[in-house]
Amino acid sequence: MPRSTHLHIRPAIAADAPALAALSIQVWLSTYATEGVNELLARYVLDEFTPAAFVSWMSDPDTALLVAEAGGHLAGYARLRFGAPQELFPAASTELCTLYVQEPFTRSGVGSALLREARSTVRGRTGNGALWLTVNVRNRRASAFYEKHGFAHRGTAWFALGDGRHENHVLGAC
Ligand SMILES: CC(C)(COP(=O)(O)OP(=O)(O)OC[C@H]1O[C@@H](n2cnc3c(N)ncnc32)[C@H](O)[C@@H]1OP(=O)(O)O)[C@@H](O)C(=O)NCCC(=O)NCCS
Repeated sequence: MPRSTHLHIRPAIAADAPALAALSIQVWLSTYATEGVNELLARYVLDEFTPAAFVSWMSDPDTALLVAEAGGHLAGYARLRFGAPQELFPAASTELCTLYVQEPFTRSGVGSALLREARSTVRGRTGNGALWLTVNVRNRRASAFYEKHGFAHRGTAWFALGDGRHENHVLGAC
């Protein structure tokens, strides 16, 4: 990201929904479809990341959706789910469901800015910034990012897609 581009973190609005859906599909495929795209993966992203899904998260009182805007474009977003206990990390009742930064903006502080704002949102709502999340064990970039931000390994969870089960780390931070 050029140094001159101002980054603004703000709550998502309905007009962001198409861009959020497109950005999600791009980031998800580039992160996980490392052997190409098949019908299973295509159907998953097209069903999961729809503009309607984002609009409905925006009106859900147990969800917070924060976007990172740079020069009038979305560069990334974070989605939080409140009231989501995790038995492997009982200190937290909020899940960071998604933290996606579009590739050209990675490694320029966008993810850190979104995470900072997410934790401040959690503090405002629950009185502490405790948060848990899951990350695919092969996603070393994200693991390095979360480690840098003080998240520690709390256990293992499995993500099912079709007949496959994908190992995830459960990470948590207070
Ligand atoms: C993981 C992700 C959110 C990080 O966001 P980002 O904006 O690139 O992160 P930042 O620029 O704020 O990086 C902060 C720190 O994280 C660590 N980090 C980030 N990317 C890294 C990489 N590729 N390798 C090693 N460390 C990395 C570094 O310590 C970095 O600090 P530094 O640049 O001063 O060394 C982003 O890469 C992303 O969206 N990836 C694809 C989707 C994904 O995997 N999301 C998480 C799923 S749970």
